[in-house]
Amino acid sequence: MCGANRLAMLLLIVLLLPLAVQGAAAAAVDTTAGFTAVPLTEAQFSVQRPYDVPLEQRYEFAGGVRRMWVYCTDKPHTTTSRTKPRTEIHIMQNYSSGVWQFEGYGYVPSGTTGVSVMQVFGAPPASGHATTLMLHVYGGRLVYYRDETRVVDGDIYDRWFRLNVIHDADAAELAVFIDGDERLRVGGRGVGAVHYFKFGVYTQTDPSHRMESRWRDVRVFTKAC
Ligand SMILES: *[C@@H]1O[C@H](CO)[C@@H](O)[C@H](O)[C@H]1NC(C)=O
Repeated sequence: MCGANRLAMLLLIVLLLPLAVQGAAAAAVDTTAGFTAVPLTEAQFSVQRPYDVPLEQRYEFAGGVRRMWVYCTDKPHTTTSRTKPRTEIHIMQNYSSGVWQFEGYGYVPSGTTGVSVMQVFGAPPASGHATTLMLHVYGGRLVYYRDETRVVDGDIYDRWFRLNVIHDADAAELAVFIDGDERLRVGGRGVGAVHYFKFGVYTQTDPSHRMESRWRDVRVFTKAC
């Protein structure tokens, strides 16, 4: 490249850089601003897995990454449960009021489908539901339950993404962010239920034989009053 061209290129970069930075800042929101991290011990990350297999055959926690997998032919997580197979972490931090936030970096390998990877557990009995929000994977899409009109991300496979889910339990409102970008705002099932967050793999509709999700740096926040 000759000197004049190089200078022109440099000028272009200098002129456009502030615009690019501004664009990025406008798209990504600091979802945890105004929130306080809730201290969690490892014991509060309770792993549920098919009751008849050893933990290490469905769960690995190495290098900060929690890897969970399950087969659609697996048993439920307890001998008495009639639910579909899961390897899922139940974060043992209940709440029934206030504003709470789940943050985690997730990864779904391609091929995993027909599965829930994250839930906000708990709903008033009158609602007829057990959960307030579930995020399912169908094909490469991350979807609110099985509602294809509410696709949270259309290209979720084989990449790390930051997931933030904010739940205002008093207002029964939820917001879902991918990489700081708000993708869904939706009403909950009502107020007055006990809630907690879950993540991993929990079989839903038309599952793949093997389902897997990986998670790192999972944190829970609540809004300081
Ligand atoms: C959390 O809520 C569940 C019911 O959903 C209850 O069984 C459990 O005892 C609660 N734990 C605490 C520490 O309050």
